[in-house]
Amino acid sequence: MNLQTIQKGVIKASLEVGDFIRKEGMAFDRTRIEQKTGFNNLVSYVDKEAEKRLVDALHKLVPEAGFVTEEGTVEQNVKEEFKWIIDPLDGTTNFLHGMPTYAISIGLTRGDDTILGVVYHIGRDECFHAIENDAAYCNEKQIRVSAIPTLRESLLATGFPYNHSGKSELYLDIIKHFLKHTHGIRRLGSAAIDLAYVACGRLEGFFEYNLNPWDVAAGAFIVQQAGGKVTDFKGGKDFVFGNELCAANMLVHEEMLQLIKTRWGY
Ligand code: IPD
Ligand code: CA
Ligand code: CA
Ligand code: CA
Repeated sequence: MNLQTIQKGVIKASLEVGDFIRKEGMAFDRTRIEQKTGFNNLVSYVDKEAEKRLVDALHKLVPEAGFVTEEGTVEQNVKEEFKWIIDPLDGTTNFLHGMPTYAISIGLTRGDDTILGVVYHIGRDECFHAIENDAAYCNEKQIRVSAIPTLRESLLATGFPYNHSGKSELYLDIIKHFLKHTHGIRRLGSAAIDLAYVACGRLEGFFEYNLNPWDVAAGAFIVQQAGGKVTDFKGGKDFVFGNELCAANMLVHEEMLQLIKTRWGY
């Protein structure tokens, strides 16, 4: 398996499907919005068609790999040695409301390890990518996490889950603390872009809960290859399938994590 060749294929597919999504977005008819599990968990034919196109292209690149995809347009094979973890449109709510912050997110895993990640921020034509044993890039330019050493000088991002669990009060408490002790908090509406922005140093850190593997597999790997640290809320490695994630540059990660951990009850 030549990862560099595969990466070229993944980037090509992302740009092509990104073009489809962008064009559909220009004339999107809001009556075509569908609800998934509730009034605020949305999807459209664009998410599903984009996923089908990505699956076709990626299957040709690594025929033996299984799929874990948000829209379930293909059989899901969590147990395969190689897996594509795909979110065809991360930031669906932004897309459906004509906001430009949405992306395609594609990770390739071997066993428990991610070995390739691509996050294509369609609205800015920025393709963030990384493969194992190499640096991270935005288009052709190598990227690194920021060198800001304290939370007081940090800009963070987070997200507010669609499904508010019993933990939303604890979460608001964490947000309140960070609001007082950082440069600010952003809610961009796409976890994949939040992570890509940590990787290139626009943000110092990102944290969120109730996430799915397709939201984070690619972006978390890109942060790591860009010199950052990614953990779950306990400080462990279970952040792809584990729902909770804290990603930051190496210098502020510990400060962020301690704060989250204590308030989250870990
Ligand atoms: C969502 C986005 C959002 C996050 C949600 C995700 P979707 O993905 O990543 O930022 O807060 O938890 O579900 O549904 O737009 O692909
Ligand atoms: Ca998503
Ligand atoms: Ca999605
Ligand atoms: Ca979704």
